[in-house]
Amino acid sequence: MGDALREVAGAGGGAVALAKGAGRVRAELRVNGIARELWVEPRRTLLDVLRSDLGLTGAKPGCEHGECGACTVHLAGRAVYACLLLAVACADREVTTIEGLGRPGALDSVQQAFVEHDALQCGFCTPGQIMAAKALLAENPSPDAREIREALAGNLCRCGAYQRIVEATLAAARGVGAGEGAGGGRAGGGEGDLRA
Ligand code: FES
Ligand code: FES
Repeated sequence: MGDALREVAGAGGGAVALAKGAGRVRAELRVNGIARELWVEPRRTLLDVLRSDLGLTGAKPGCEHGECGACTVHLAGRAVYACLLLAVACADREVTTIEGLGRPGALDSVQQAFVEHDALQCGFCTPGQIMAAKALLAENPSPDAREIREALAGNLCRCGAYQRIVEATLAAARGVGAGEGAGGGRAGGGEGDLRA
């Protein structure tokens, strides 16, 4: 956990209070339902802060310039590239990472579908793929294969697991239709629409 973090009192355990340093500014984020008070340099990306300060390493640094989707998280329910957002620009908004979906033994429906359909090889792109799929299903609970491919077009998988990713998302959609539910949303415009 980085040196610029402390949790807001009462928002969770393990609070760490450290002095703010020169050039840092205060920003409050809600990450996976927990309020965080951060002192960060304005130049730092959301991806960097999530990984280095909050220890949330599920969002991956791939290209780090908006090309691969490995860093995809949800901001206010919409899929965004965390590598293109400044952390301070996310103040007072809900951020959800792959760690906020499920956990071992209690996977989210999309995570479970990816496991069951073997929708990964190396797995580096998988958190971003799942976050993108989750956002799609929140907006469109019954997408067809074409809609899934379009929605996930901003997430590259160099292993070529695309067909199984589509199959897993279709299966998760069937689960959603059966009442398993889907959180998050889909980036559709404005500052949240950072997926090429
Ligand atoms: S790391 Fe590639 S789009 Fe963010
Ligand atoms: S599973 Fe290897 S890059 Fe996607």
